[in-house]
Amino acid sequence: MFIISPSVLAADFSKLGEEAKKVHRAGAKYLHLDVMDGIFVPNISFGAPVISSLRKTTNIIFDVHLMITEPQRYIDDFLRAGADIICIHYESCDDPHEVIKYIKSKEAKAAISIKPATPAEVVFPMLEDLDMVLVMSVEPGFGGQKFMPESLPKIRAIREYANSRGIDIDIEVDGGITPDNVKYITAAGANVAVAGSAIFNADKPSEVIAKMKEQAKLYPFGSNPEN
Ligand code: DX5
Ligand code: ZN
Repeated sequence: MFIISPSVLAADFSKLGEEAKKVHRAGAKYLHLDVMDGIFVPNISFGAPVISSLRKTTNIIFDVHLMITEPQRYIDDFLRAGADIICIHYESCDDPHEVIKYIKSKEAKAAISIKPATPAEVVFPMLEDLDMVLVMSVEPGFGGQKFMPESLPKIRAIREYANSRGIDIDIEVDGGITPDNVKYITAAGANVAVAGSAIFNADKPSEVIAKMKEQAKLYPFGSNPEN
């Protein structure tokens, strides 16, 4: 199933609850929450207290993307705050596989993210313990950047590896995704699209979401996005 996860980084933080409800009504299944510590990435966003307050306003699935060093320190906090999916960065700690197992032991969904310079193969040994892999299509830290097509072979490599072993896994892509380029990631094997500015800066987010879903249907894994 194709899922849209709007990133609140591009939303109006003074009315996050309303923004979350707006995109939920518009057809988004997840809400992408970008947590940044100013160390792992050169930007600071928000943490567990904000997510916990937001949790009271909506039942949309919280897809929490942790761009923080040593994320194992805060997993319990984010679970208590209401995270449904917790995504840590492969590059953020010494033993990401252990952190993934910990998240799973708490009955939350676990995901791992790789930065543009990190090869796809690093996630292969932990694929069976993961619910989702997040392939970054920009350098993490800021919204509104341009999509990097270098992410496409990595998406394809993960989908092919998973399929060849009968592993059913979600592949999410984050950074610079729009209704015009979403077909490249779905054709490469992704099934979860994060979009911040494309959705929150639009006059009609529901139209953007509908167009992205339509494109995903037209360009399934293995299709030719140039057609
Ligand atoms: C970047 C974040 C993204 C970002 C996406 O570090 O992880 O989730 O907000 O925003 P757009 O869609 O504007 O690139
Ligand atoms: Zn993100």
